[in-house]
Amino acid sequence: MKRSIAIEPYRVAHRGPVPGTVPITGSETIPPALPANEALLGRLTNPMQTTAVSLERGRDRYGIYCQVCHGPEGLGNGPVAPALANTVRNLTEPRMRARSDGWMYAVIANGFGALMPEYRSKLSRDDRWHIVNYVRVLQGVAR
Ligand code: HEC
Repeated sequence: MKRSIAIEPYRVAHRGPVPGTVPITGSETIPPALPANEALLGRLTNPMQTTAVSLERGRDRYGIYCQVCHGPEGLGNGPVAPALANTVRNLTEPRMRARSDGWMYAVIANGFGALMPEYRSKLSRDDRWHIVNYVRVLQGVAR
């Protein structure tokens, strides 16, 4: 009790649930965004239409959860980027524009690489898709 182990969620990327964990909100499993899963993730359909409501929600959530690293325009230049040795991805580069919605959804849910944490525990499924829609706007990708 006196010396408990404090878990700092943002310092532990990819910490999966303990084996045997029972989901409390359904049993969603999303494979991590890895080249091997690219085709599979590409088949995920974004259930959220790009409406004004979706974009507003996406903008709001992006501002809270992504902007610190990826910057307001998605250029990878948020205030935290220097602390991550400027490895934060520029979401507007052609390679990122070409990624599927499902891929980006998996990146948000599971995190990416060693430095981007998971957001599945912080963003609902709907919110992840709203963010995908909003990032498409930052990318200038027509829908
Ligand atoms: C703590 C900083 C941080 C936050 C917050 C963050 N990211 Fe990232 N993100 C990164 C870094 C660093 C990379 C590059 C990781 C690598 O290449 O190893 C990255 C990569 C990505 C990629 C590219 C993956 C690929 O295909 O190469 C996408 C898409 C992305 N982030 C979207 C988001 C979205 C959307 C959010 C908000 C939900 C978000 N990120 C929040 C740091 C962050």
